Amino acid sequence: MELLATILILCLVSCGTATSATRYSLSNDIVDVTKFGAIGDGKTDNSQAFIKAWKAVCLATTNPTLTIPKGKNFQLKPVEFNGPCKSSTITIQVDGNIVGPSSLREWGSRQLDTWLKLSHVNGLVIKGSGQIDGRGEFWWRAANKLPRRPVALTFVDCKNLRLSGLTHINSPGAHISVVGGDGSVLSNLNITAPGSSPNTDGIDLSHSTNVQILGSNIATGDDCICISTNSSFINITNVACGPGHGISIGSLGKDGSTDIVEEVHVKDVSFKPGATSGLRIKTWQGGHGYARKISYDGVTLEGASNPIIIDQFYCDRHPPVCKNETSAVQISDITYTNVHGTSISDDSISLKCSQSIGCTNLVLNDINITSASRGIVTKSTCFNAHGKHGPTIPSVDCLLP
Ligand SMILES: *[C@@H]1O[C@H](CO)[C@@H](O)[C@H](O)[C@H]1NC(C)=O
Ligand SMILES: *[C@@H]1O[C@H](CO)[C@@H](O)[C@H](O)[C@H]1NC(C)=O
Ligand SMILES: *[C@@H]1O[C@H](CO)[C@@H](O)[C@H](O)[C@H]1NC(C)=O
Ligand SMILES: *[C@@H]1O[C@H](CO)[C@@H](O)[C@H](O)[C@H]1NC(C)=O
Ligand SMILES: *[C@@H]1O[C@H](CO)[C@@H](O)[C@H](O)[C@H]1NC(C)=O
Repeated sequence: MELLATILILCLVSCGTATSATRYSLSNDIVDVTKFGAIGDGKTDNSQAFIKAWKAVCLATTNPTLTIPKGKNFQLKPVEFNGPCKSSTITIQVDGNIVGPSSLREWGSRQLDTWLKLSHVNGLVIKGSGQIDGRGEFWWRAANKLPRRPVALTFVDCKNLRLSGLTHINSPGAHISVVGGDGSVLSNLNITAPGSSPNTDGIDLSHSTNVQILGSNIATGDDCICISTNSSFINITNVACGPGHGISIGSLGKDGSTDIVEEVHVKDVSFKPGATSGLRIKTWQGGHGYARKISYDGVTLEGASNPIIIDQFYCDRHPPVCKNETSAVQISDITYTNVHGTSISDDSISLKCSQSIGCTNLVLNDINITSASRGIVTKSTCFNAHGKHGPTIPSVDCLLP
């Protein structure tokens, strides 16, 4: 069996004696991290054991599975699992928990982009009932001093990824980042961090096409889902968000960049109390490219603030010094239908488009957003927003033809 041979070789190299290989009983190319020395007592660092197990899996040819067994807590330092691998599919069955280092010192560097990184592995299936706990508390407390905080789980150029079932909690920065993940499906995820935790996005997606995000519950301190540069044919279906900053597209066009986002379809999503934005598209002044063919259909709001926003004057510099420019990321063909519920901000529809080109073909229909406070009436604001509408509350008479 090829995997066994691989492990024998790895063991000859890494375990020192060939006899130690006889401990491993392998069937169906299942590689258990505990067979590579992972302990899972919540305290011991298991990074080297995971790397050895990964190497065995990555060299196996027949759809191997790496298992992270239930009932254990595997502490990992920042670690990378790289491909390309031999098999066209690799399964990682995560039933145990993975936890971050237990103090800021143990993280090593303070300039980290990511904690767990998987790159160039196609056909990766990650599933199970386990939990990935980034132990972000140490980082959040020092957020003023450590403006950059690592993403918990990053996928770079992993095509056709399937990530499902896991719970992701308390990342130092964003929980999951997918870059170049064409054909991926992320489903049945539970992503949870305190509403006050800084920049703890749920799922960040960029440079990806044909991606589905389905059936997930996301409660974080920043965007629940953020779709950014050069992404297309993205469907987000049946997702609950809140607390969090909503489902965002952008920011696009920062520092004059060319960003393209199109065919994003958001369907059957809900925003719970503490959602400080709902459906948001944000672009910087001076950018290039476009965001177009985006639809939102079937949205419920329970006391969300700023449910519908297009902001082409986005500026998160401190202090906010962003000049108005003539170029802008072009926004067109954005449809909002069947959006119902309550908002805690009276400005519940805000469509602020660039002064130079504006937004075109915005379509709003079957919308009823009332105030969560009695006696307050919700309203709309538009700037250079062109399009058409059916019945909406609040009225969007401010739309230009
Ligand atoms: C998500 O995970 C958190 C943390 O483990 C838990 O408190 C919460 O109940 C879970 N939510 C769902 C919808 O499973
Ligand atoms: C994505 O959503 C669009 C619009 O609802 C739909 O036409 C398309 O079939 C969906 N794609 C997938 C793969 O489900
Ligand atoms: C996005 O794609 C366009 C067109 O291919 C390219 O010009 C641009 O540099 C890309 N943007 C980024 C940020 O990679
Ligand atoms: C940019 O233009 C908008 C719309 O005309 C205006 O409200 C805003 O004050 C301008 N910002 C700056 C920095 O000039
Ligand atoms: C809008 O929603 C409010 C609150 O649920 C409800 O009382 C009202 O009848 C709805 N209006 C329409 C036109 O559906």
